[in-house]
Amino acid sequence: MAVVGIVPAAGSGERLGADGPNAFVVCAGKPLVEWSLEVLSEVCERVVVAVPPGVQLGADRVLGGAVRSESVRIALAAAPEAEIAVVHDAARPLLTRSLVERCVQAVRDGWDGAVAAAPMADTVKQAAPDGRVERTLDRSRLWSIQTPQVFRADVLRRALEVPAGVLAAATDDASLVEAAGGAVCVVESPPENLKVTRRVDLLLAETLLRDRAGC
Ligand code: CTP
Ligand code: MG
Repeated sequence: MAVVGIVPAAGSGERLGADGPNAFVVCAGKPLVEWSLEVLSEVCERVVVAVPPGVQLGADRVLGGAVRSESVRIALAAAPEAEIAVVHDAARPLLTRSLVERCVQAVRDGWDGAVAAAPMADTVKQAAPDGRVERTLDRSRLWSIQTPQVFRADVLRRALEVPAGVLAAATDDASLVEAAGGAVCVVESPPENLKVTRRVDLLLAETLLRDRAGC
């Protein structure tokens, strides 16, 4: 089955507050997105990146959309040959080959989708708008969801065919697949699979990537 990587890298990186989009901020010696592309290219036949305006376009570099899931939809449309889609945020540079392979294997085994996930380390409470705690959730069954998120490409294509408002409200692609009736499983990720959202994350990622690369 044709395995294609889909990398949303078209965000503006407002919370990071760097000079440009966070996917292209230099981290441990290269643009953030390059770390993920290196790993994805070991597992995927091709990787399509959704980039922000101002970045050179090409067959594997398409202009992203206004919201994240729209960027995913546009990049996936550029890979009609894809049978398995490996969606991975450029903002998670500490991706490992083993994590990608375990998610891909879960889809080969019959799941519609398999998502990288971390067991909840904190206690989780639900609170009302005034701050009053309503209940404490059972964290033993709660997972914090990350990328990679791997799907049967046909299932993901259908799930992304929703009105713009629904696409904009989706905080991940798996939720769209779930809403369309797809069966999705969690795959436990290593603790370092962090997302670079704010400056503190960038500093941590820099340290971990340098440690990994031995530099
Ligand atoms: N992304 C994208 N297209 C968008 C918005 C986001 O491809 N229209 C990508 C980002 O580049 C990132 C991933 O989706 O790799 C996760 O998004 P997020 O962490 O929110 O990054 P940004 O949107 O860039 O940051 P911010 O929300 O702080 O502006
Ligand atoms: Mg964003």
